[in-house]
Amino acid sequence: MADPNPPGRFGAAAGLGAAMVLLVAVALGLLLRTDSPSGVRTPGTGRTVARADYVGDVSCRDCHPGEFAAHSGSGHSKTLRRAVQVALRRGWDSRTTPDPEQPGVSWKFQVRDGRLWVERSAAQTPGGIQAERFAIDYALGSGRHATTLVTMVNRDPRHPTIREHRLTFFGHADGFGLTPGQSLAGHASGNTPAGRIHSADDTLKCFGCHATMTSDRGFDQLDPATIIPDVTCERCHGPARAHVEAARRGDAPESLHLPFGLDGSPADEELRLCGTCHRLPEMLTSNALSTANPVIVRYQPIGLMQSACFRGSDGAMACTTCHDPHSRTSSDRAAYEAACLSCHDRRRVHPCPLSNRSGCVDCHMPRRDVARGMIMTDHWIRVDRPDSARIPH
Ligand code: HEC
Ligand code: HEC
Ligand code: HEC
Ligand code: HEC
Ligand code: HEC
Ligand code: HEC
Ligand code: HEC
Repeated sequence: MADPNPPGRFGAAAGLGAAMVLLVAVALGLLLRTDSPSGVRTPGTGRTVARADYVGDVSCRDCHPGEFAAHSGSGHSKTLRRAVQVALRRGWDSRTTPDPEQPGVSWKFQVRDGRLWVERSAAQTPGGIQAERFAIDYALGSGRHATTLVTMVNRDPRHPTIREHRLTFFGHADGFGLTPGQSLAGHASGNTPAGRIHSADDTLKCFGCHATMTSDRGFDQLDPATIIPDVTCERCHGPARAHVEAARRGDAPESLHLPFGLDGSPADEELRLCGTCHRLPEMLTSNALSTANPVIVRYQPIGLMQSACFRGSDGAMACTTCHDPHSRTSSDRAAYEAACLSCHDRRRVHPCPLSNRSGCVDCHMPRRDVARGMIMTDHWIRVDRPDSARIPH
């Protein structure tokens, strides 16, 4: 929704007679209906919206069952949950796991009073066990690759800080390992035997990418009472209350328009939407934009945008060239290769001297280890140096 009128404009409008008074009343009504007088600017699209205009994924199910089902099964729909919910589902209650780095230290998970607790025990002094106990509030990441546990340290919405727990659950290993970046042996400052405290700025960014909205007052605050967790339909398509109401009334299709819909948005707009969270080139320094930097493998838009395919195709390439944005990533090789061949056939862009039918992804988009055994696909499409690390598909 548009930024509500500043007070000065109300004054001017009120002088213009009965019709205008009515308009003002409507504007005030809208104002009261929103719990966000200044509106919330969404990163990526820059639209100003109000929390009251969000209706939630379930409202979309009846009319868009396909998108709803696909999205419910994807990581986007479960990337920010209460830790206790995940612990119960995964059976972490009463589980004990050794610290991956410190001999003699172990961690025990327990669900008590509706919360997840973790206790760290260290046999430090002869005969004595030292224990420390923390409650864990949130679980970030669906666990397809990983789930990281965090505790709210400062709950002030304007200056929220978290402790990112030292242990992360890794999907490929079905067990706990060290959270990337948290080795005590390394030089990273801020790591403690229990985890890492993140600044308010980092905390807001972290929730900003794993939620649809972090508070009803904007992305510069974190408020558990008004947060909308996960990357919901409305994070990409914008708030849809008016859309749902119009569709229920049977209004004409023109009035049902939402961003990123049937009309196929320009590739650059889509890349900016996905890149808000999956990262964009300007978020890295230019010397980090190198095939030698393994971090880029995790940042698909950055890799893709360096590719000759993207650069040479005049804005025709985006994430949806290969992915359904609603679904879990498909593992159907032939479908990805059909996308390659839609350009690399004889007529448009020259084909491969080695193979003109299949195997494109294995050779030109290999999988690599991004951190601690997490394997991801390199989106910097290129002729790969034979010595670079790759993992067979
Ligand atoms: C608000 C931030 C945000 C935006 C915007 C976003 N993503 Fe994501 N995306 C994430 C996060 C966080 C994950 C990790 C989900 C998890 O925990 O598994 C993810 C995961 C994915 C996955 C893996 C899904 C799976 O379950 O296999 C794909 C594919 C993906 N995103 C594509 C896209 C595309 C395409 C767009 C743009 C149309 C996009 N994303 C926009 C945050 C975002
Ligand atoms: C700039 C946006 C951004 C920020 C900031 C961010 N994430 Fe993510 N996160 C993503 C995206 C996009 C993905 C999916 C791609 C990937 O795995 O890197 C993701 C994936 C993850 C995953 C793996 C999910 C899975 O199973 O595939 C975890 C765990 C995670 N993030 C935790 C965190 C934590 C904890 C923080 C803050 C301390 C954080 N993230 C900050 C965007 C972000
Ligand atoms: C990560 C961002 C993202 C999320 C989350 C998302 N969508 Fe989409 N959606 C898109 C994009 C991008 C397109 C355009 C697809 C294209 O051009 O291929 C799209 C297209 C659509 C369309 C048009 C369908 C068509 O045939 O092209 C509908 C309807 C839709 N989405 C509904 C939903 C619903 C309902 C949800 C939640 C259950 C949802 N979307 C969640 C990004 C998203
Ligand atoms: C009562 C039925 C109904 C509900 C509920 C509904 N939609 Fe729609 N939606 C429609 C219709 C009808 C269209 C137009 C489809 C067409 O033109 O083929 C549409 C189109 C769309 C499009 C494409 C818009 C465009 O401009 O191209 C998107 C995106 C979308 N819906 C998202 C959502 C989301 C997100 C929700 C839930 C918050 C939702 N819809 C709930 C009926 C509904
Ligand atoms: C939207 C069209 C398009 C798609 C889809 C596409 N490419 Fe390309 N690709 C291009 C263009 C254009 C070039 C640059 C050709 C030139 O400069 O002569 C290119 C270049 C390449 C190169 C040479 C890279 C280099 O650095 O010289 C490889 C390898 C390649 N593509 C592989 C693939 C593979 C594999 C896929 C599918 C996973 C794919 N492409 C999908 C358009 C595309
Ligand atoms: C030319 C085709 C192509 C394009 C374009 C493309 N991807 Fe992918 N993507 C793939 C392939 C292939 C995989 C590996 C699928 C599998 O698991 O087998 C993949 C996997 C992923 C994953 C899962 C994590 C991983 O690395 O396995 C995410 C997240 C993702 N892509 C996001 C994106 C985003 C965001 C964009 C747009 C910037 C994008 N992709 C554009 C082909 C593509
Ligand atoms: C066995 C590994 C392998 C497979 C499979 C493969 N490629 Fe290649 N491709 C290569 C190598 C190596 C080169 C560099 C050849 C050279 O420079 O002599 C190359 C070159 C290319 C080029 C650059 C051609 C040029 O003249 O600049 C394109 C485009 C390309 N491949 C696309 C594809 C597509 C599309 C597919 C799937 C249909 C594919 N490749 C399958 C290994 C492979």
